[in-house]
Amino acid sequence: MIYFDNAATSYPKPENVYQEMMRCIKEYCANPGRGGHELSIRAGRAVMEAREVIAEFFNIKDPMRLIFTKNATEALNIGFRVLNEGDHVITTSMEHNSVIRPLKTLERDMGIELTIVQGNEFGEVNPKDFEKNIKGNTRMIVCTLSSNVNGIIMPIKEIGDIAKKYDVIFFVDASQGAGTLELDVEYNNIDMMAFPGHKSLLGPQGTGGLYVAEGIEIRPIMQGGTGSSSENLFQPEILPDALESGTLNTPGIVGLGQGISFINSFGLENIRKYKSLLIEQIYDGLSNINGVIIYSKKEPSDNSGIIAFNFEGVESTEVSYVLDKAYGIATRAGLHCAPLAHKTLGTLKSGTVRISVGCFNTKDEVDVLLKALKEISDNLK
Ligand code: ALA
Repeated sequence: MIYFDNAATSYPKPENVYQEMMRCIKEYCANPGRGGHELSIRAGRAVMEAREVIAEFFNIKDPMRLIFTKNATEALNIGFRVLNEGDHVITTSMEHNSVIRPLKTLERDMGIELTIVQGNEFGEVNPKDFEKNIKGNTRMIVCTLSSNVNGIIMPIKEIGDIAKKYDVIFFVDASQGAGTLELDVEYNNIDMMAFPGHKSLLGPQGTGGLYVAEGIEIRPIMQGGTGSSSENLFQPEILPDALESGTLNTPGIVGLGQGISFINSFGLENIRKYKSLLIEQIYDGLSNINGVIIYSKKEPSDNSGIIAFNFEGVESTEVSYVLDKAYGIATRAGLHCAPLAHKTLGTLKSGTVRISVGCFNTKDEVDVLLKALKEISDNLK
């Protein structure tokens, strides 16, 4: 199997991720922060170390303001609990359903106001369109770092500057791009950020996180045991406990910390350059195949590692199916849980075939993929 579905989940993971998760499960997987015994303390220390590695990676000054969640969707849903009736939120037409569905639900059930900034045919948005839409009750701008459909990279620095200028919360969905693109919460004026552990951060599924800047208070989705202030019949207010009830996913969190350590040892910039080379190879190869329409941009500054394409007049799911069954190549077709993004690209009906590269893909694998796509194209004639 050749795996080109890294935007859904990265695979394989670095060896150190497997090894430390196994060591954790076998040797020190007690309940972190829930007991005074040696193993609980060791598990607690491992969780804290991972929290610190992740915080440093994103330049989060206080690791305690980083909350572990089971994925980015959970982190986004928790983050939206900062909103109140009458608040105005600005987002983009390139968001995933994990942003759009909670916001549409809050619009319907709680009376928030929603403005969706429209992207162009590649999903690019103009920062001025955010500024134009800010009004007295604008509380939050929510924007993806990079589209999970075509990999377009959003101008988050410019949008973050606008959010800061108008004292609006800037919430970034870093699901695509975290682990590939340089992402500094201070530099980009990010107030809240949701991320999954299992995509380009190279951790396991069941991990993710939410960063919440100082001064932002969120109503927890859950209340429960935190291992702290147990005499208090109400949820503690300090982070991370306020938003982290119940036993944590210790082996998963340890694995995520190891994923980021791998990125640090390899170098984020090297990973980015390598993925860009693969993307350029795919883009150039696809451009020479008859009947292909490409919906992604080629330049590294415009692409976090995804090529979305179709064969003219052919269902995306059919192409992905043939790649899988006849060639053993994994891609993802359809709408990728992002219907508004597909509407923006003009692919709502057909969906697209999505090739998403990871740092363990090779140029030889791309050659095999391109050869397969050439054959599929020839058979369509
Ligand atoms: N959101 C993930 C994707 O884009 C699952 O495939």
